[in-house]
Amino acid sequence: MNEDMKRILIINASPRRRGGIDRMLTIIEDEARALGADVETVRISQLTIAACTGCMVCRKKLACILPEDGAQSTLGKIKASDVLVIGAPCYWGNMPGTLKLLFDRIVYGMMDEDKRGIPVALHKGKQAVIISSCTTVWPFNILFHQSRGVVRALKEILKWSGFRIIATMEKGGTKNHPDLKEVERRKCIRIAKKIAI
Ligand SMILES: Cc1cc2nc3c(=O)[nH]c(=O)nc-3n(C[C@H](O)[C@H](O)[C@H](O)COP(=O)(O)O)c2cc1C
Repeated sequence: MNEDMKRILIINASPRRRGGIDRMLTIIEDEARALGADVETVRISQLTIAACTGCMVCRKKLACILPEDGAQSTLGKIKASDVLVIGAPCYWGNMPGTLKLLFDRIVYGMMDEDKRGIPVALHKGKQAVIISSCTTVWPFNILFHQSRGVVRALKEILKWSGFRIIATMEKGGTKNHPDLKEVERRKCIRIAKKIAI
């Protein structure tokens, strides 16, 4: 692999093939790859991830004591990437539980704490993009924290982990307008250009 090549990890938290999230992420993936980036997509729905037991051992050992599953393997991929793109539909004003489970299991690989208990971000210098969708129509998807609730919750995780969020995209009103508008397709291409080069 060329050393200058951007390594992009896309996490798709929608279980729906050809849904809005899938389509937006596919455009970003294809475009970024065409621009020379090394891109991999992880579909959360294809992983098995056990629930966090809250034992807190990982905070000392910096490793999860649960048997290896999709959580540890995805953390390895996040560590190896320069850019993280997360696509998540809005479920109850937040990210899907399956994605939250992943982040619950990998706290130790995202942020640490110093001796005084001050958070230490482990992914400083990396970039992130957040994509969300929901049936609530614009501007209520923003005002009532529907897709905006997803963006806000993911920002919380990514910022404490050191990522700089360079773009967000929210598609509201997916019930009546499931297809991507031209302006949305173009925004995906702009995002791909931003992260690939
Ligand atoms: C379990 C569940 C909960 C949902 N909760 C909300 C919600 O709180 N607000 C909303 O606007 N849409 C909600 N939706 C609708 C999805 O966000 C919407 O269908 C979205 O476009 C799905 O994206 P996808 O097809 O790319 O997976 C929910 C859908 C499901 C399946």
